Amino acid sequence: MSHSDVPGAAAAGDRGAHPAWPGLFVSFEGGDGAGKSTQLVRAAAWIASVTSREVVRTREPGGTALGQVLRTLVLHGEDLDPRTEALIYAADRAQHVAEVIRPALRRGAVVLTDRYLDSSVAYQAGGRELGADDVERLSFWATDGLLPQLTVLLDVSPGRGLARLSDAPDRLERAGDVFHLRTRQAFLDRAAADPGRWLVLDASRSREELTEQIVARLVPLLAALPPAGSTLDPQAVRPRSVRGEAEGARVVSTPAEAMHPENAAPPRDEGAW
Ligand SMILES: Nc1ncnc2c1ncn2[C@@H]1O[C@H](COP(=O)(O)OP(=O)(O)OP(=O)(O)O)[C@@H](O)[C@H]1O
Ligand SMILES: [Mg+2]
Repeated sequence: MSHSDVPGAAAAGDRGAHPAWPGLFVSFEGGDGAGKSTQLVRAAAWIASVTSREVVRTREPGGTALGQVLRTLVLHGEDLDPRTEALIYAADRAQHVAEVIRPALRRGAVVLTDRYLDSSVAYQAGGRELGADDVERLSFWATDGLLPQLTVLLDVSPGRGLARLSDAPDRLERAGDVFHLRTRQAFLDRAAADPGRWLVLDASRSREELTEQIVARLVPLLAALPPAGSTLDPQAVRPRSVRGEAEGARVVSTPAEAMHPENAAPPRDEGAW
């Protein structure tokens, strides 16, 4: 596997391989109902309000047309073998990176994804008892080593997160307390092992406080980006300027992400994971 074109932090053993891509890749991770989608939308709106840089909102599984088929299979299929499940997530991710994320980063976009590789490791390794190293290696192969420059972990107790979700639980949400506690710990362990990439937030805080903390971390990352036909307006970079949606902002959503209840009118038909 080649990690020669990894932006941000690279795969283990190949750190420091930063390409000249002008984009920024950010993932949002955490348990069910932690507030990932809420903060992703708010961060996208803020970015679009301070720069004319393209903002791409997307999610896993299901960030592509193929991914939507895989999402249905993996979230609503019954009795999936753990290796089969890991391979489906990896296939979804491979297509997502090839079709959406990598081209956007090459264009200089800011890509915000609702879940990425760390969810696979945390959910499948932490919860499903596959080897974490194997699951991670599989994802690195699928993505050719692409890791986000920033991963926001919305950390909340499983009970509190699940209580925020009102719809019928999907297959993973139904998986039980031990599963969710192990998954939470797996996220925290991964964050502790690579603090440069992660921003760990107490997701029991208010939406506004959380967005301010995310914005504070985004400011230097955006300011450090090479130009992509636009420049950051330093006067506009104020955490308190966060709004629900930026008017006239250039925010692009993948088809699946646009279907999310935070972003569209139809009621949610499934949880993410
Ligand atoms: N900081 C917060 N405090 C209280 N409620 C919140 C907060 N953030 C989000 N919520 C609410 O909690 C619910 C779940 O939020 P959201 O959909 O953003 O979570 P999620 O992590 O994307 O969930 P899922 O795992 O189902 O995708 C929503 O009703 C949302 O409005
Ligand atoms: Mg969500």
